[in-house]
Amino acid sequence: MFSSSLTVAVAAFCALSPAAQALLAEGLTTAQVNSVRQQLMDRAHVSWEYGTATTAVLEMDYPDISVYGWAPFPIPRPLDQDSYIMRNAAKLMDERPKDSKTIMEDGAAGDPMSNAITMLLANYSNPADTRFQSAFYSQLGFIEYDVPQTGDGAISHRVSEVQLWADSCFMVPPSFAYWGAIQTDLEVQRKYLVKAYEQLRLYRDHLRDPNSNGLWMHVVMGTWSDVGHWTTGHGWAASGMIRVYQTIAKSALRDELSWALADLSAWAQEIVGAVWDHQRADGSLGNYLRDDSFTDMSGTAFMAAVTYRLGVITDVSTLIPHADRAFTLVKNSIAADGRLQNVVNPYDFTTPYSDVSPEGQGFVLMCQAAWRDYTAFTNGIHHSLSDVFSAFAKAIAAAKSNEDSTPTKRRRHVPVQMH
Ligand SMILES: *[C@@H]1O[C@H](CO)[C@@H](O)[C@H](O)[C@H]1NC(C)=O
Repeated sequence: MFSSSLTVAVAAFCALSPAAQALLAEGLTTAQVNSVRQQLMDRAHVSWEYGTATTAVLEMDYPDISVYGWAPFPIPRPLDQDSYIMRNAAKLMDERPKDSKTIMEDGAAGDPMSNAITMLLANYSNPADTRFQSAFYSQLGFIEYDVPQTGDGAISHRVSEVQLWADSCFMVPPSFAYWGAIQTDLEVQRKYLVKAYEQLRLYRDHLRDPNSNGLWMHVVMGTWSDVGHWTTGHGWAASGMIRVYQTIAKSALRDELSWALADLSAWAQEIVGAVWDHQRADGSLGNYLRDDSFTDMSGTAFMAAVTYRLGVITDVSTLIPHADRAFTLVKNSIAADGRLQNVVNPYDFTTPYSDVSPEGQGFVLMCQAAWRDYTAFTNGIHHSLSDVFSAFAKAIAAAKSNEDSTPTKRRRHVPVQMH
């Protein structure tokens, strides 16, 4: 008892180091959250924006249902029929051609897949409407069997040719993983969790720039490419990895797939560390990670969000101050009507934009939710540390009173797992 408590106390001290970091950023006000969310809901209108919006709203407003919740599998509860996600799901179905192979019509192969989780939640919340399930199955079959792939099996982001975009990491693998995690047949579960991991591994093989310190190119292969280090692309990639990590970590196969968790966390950390090397004095990141590129607060918000998310699964204490500086600037870049200012054009990733970027609005909500959850996590560690201290004190007292009767117990090594 004595030595096992000592092990716990030492382990808790080691785990404390990221948490002991003061949080520099303050969260958004409730009024800001509401106006940012409203702009997101009002302005999202293309496939990946709806998928991004659902992801952001889940993280912000339904944290127990999002993959960042403690126990999101099986799906813990239905969504209200009048929630944004259910209304959006119904709208997508109303607009969908009857024989469509995808959830939404799109030249992009990957982007409509970002709405697959929306379909699964809608089907769960309103199984009487069979359109959700049927759209999901069509979309799954399409992405698995109809979309062209590279020779090594990376699923193209485009329908018409093989072309890989970092964006796809957010749109496709988290949906495969989610479908896997809600399966009761463990063989099917394993198939889709591993498929999600494999797609990320292949995308990393193709997009990680060998001439940089962990940065990714944006688009490779096909009739044109964008080999620049697009900031938002790093957000799509790292966020996709962390969502897949969380999905696997909460699935029935978490122990068997611990090797995949280790890779996903290391890959995301590599991206996040490489990106913050390029943070500017005001806390922002350029649209591309080079000195002459205009400021993009959309990608900046996304990278802050993934950094806080990463802070819950691995020690990125040296990176949290970067996220804090970025988040502070994000907060100060939100106009009175809720729009994030100084963003890249979401429909042309090389130009600045003065209108609302729906994905940028989503990244701000994700950043707020990630900061909130990271803050709660650090407080949780403080709680468990004081619990450990009282257990420690009791163990010392017990060991003292038992000293003569059970001397060998104090020397026995009892390893304790902290998680
Ligand atoms: C849709 O919901 C029904 C009823 O809960 C369930 O049996 C079915 O497996 C669900 N379909 C999908 C694709 O999740």
